[in-house]
Amino acid sequence: MAEIYLARTRSNERVALKRIHPNLLTDSKFVQMFLDEARTVIQLRHPNIVQLLDFGKVHDAYFFTMEWIDGKSLGEVVQQQVTKNIYFPVDVVLWIGLDICEGLAYAHVKRDHYDQPLGIVHRDISPPNVLVTTSCQFKVADFGIAEIRNKGVQTQPGVIRGKFSYMSPEQSYGDPLDHRSDLFSVGVVLYELLVSKRLFLRENEQATIEAVRKCNVPPLRKSREDVPEELNDVLQKVLSNDAKDRYPDAPSFADDLARILKKHYPQSSRQVVKKYLNHLFPMSGFHMRDDHVDIAKKRLQNVDPSRMNTKQPFPIMFIIGIVLIMVLLIIGVDYMFGFFQLGIFS
Ligand SMILES: Nc1ncnc2c1ncn2[C@@H]1O[C@H](COP(=O)(O)OP(=O)(O)OP(=O)(O)O)[C@@H](O)[C@H]1O
Ligand SMILES: [Mg+2]
Repeated sequence: MAEIYLARTRSNERVALKRIHPNLLTDSKFVQMFLDEARTVIQLRHPNIVQLLDFGKVHDAYFFTMEWIDGKSLGEVVQQQVTKNIYFPVDVVLWIGLDICEGLAYAHVKRDHYDQPLGIVHRDISPPNVLVTTSCQFKVADFGIAEIRNKGVQTQPGVIRGKFSYMSPEQSYGDPLDHRSDLFSVGVVLYELLVSKRLFLRENEQATIEAVRKCNVPPLRKSREDVPEELNDVLQKVLSNDAKDRYPDAPSFADDLARILKKHYPQSSRQVVKKYLNHLFPMSGFHMRDDHVDIAKKRLQNVDPSRMNTKQPFPIMFIIGIVLIMVLLIIGVDYMFGFFQLGIFS
């Protein structure tokens, strides 16, 4: 849908410049949508989101600029990991998941200047749209862009685009969706990082869409034994076919990831991410920064590792119901036969 360039501003700062493919912007309604979407997304400011800086039109070309991330995309990290054949350490995957969730948690509830919810859904969470800075922070890129692309596709019959293998089932049907669709896509990304295999990608797009709709998620432990059982529960929950069975929001998903990190990897810090990235890319100089605002770390400090959201709450109403039925039965039997001599009706 776009070409991406490394560009420089007049003050010589580096920015990423995306030039939207002219074919996508021939329809005036569509151009309006691009501008609306960009006006919304430019309001997002968060350490785990790639900042949109500017948007507009030069001659016939619509463009937008974003902060330049001097690092790698998660897609490149995965490629390197496959080349070097080293599994992602589980705690590194948890740090990645936490960073993505922090960015989403902020964007999903973002409100406008009139305090109205903006209803932002990313719609294209996938490894190329997660970037990691040289200071080891993961950021979500390209908010709202998928919507533009999808609408553009409708104007071109016969052209199918998009990363189907990361879509939620409802998205693959073109049904209305909400932020829980993004959580599903994060689940796919984390699952694949853990097992080093694609979850829904098949030999062609049709087969991929069918796999997404079937939504069969093999237990993680089948592929990798060192994954804690709780992490399997978390991913099974977030990868539920029905959005109602997933986490209600990104913070509750992030809380469970943080709980697992705290319980099973108590010594883990962002240093493990640095170590792993430097191992994969020895020349890239990933490092830690003291001035880094680490939102995931704050969440980690605040969670109680013993209270997972995946555990069903005690079915108290069910138990109360059973007790009530039994009491009524006893009273009824006593009334008819006088077995217990409760004397309630005497
Ligand atoms: N802000 C950025 N700073 C640095 N590199 C970037 C930035 N945005 C994207 N890139 C690089 O460009 C690559 C291509 O990004 P691009 O967004 O054009 O394609 P994509 O993510 O594969 O598809 P989509 O159009 O769905 O977003 C990314 O994988 C990343 O390596
Ligand atoms: Mg992208």
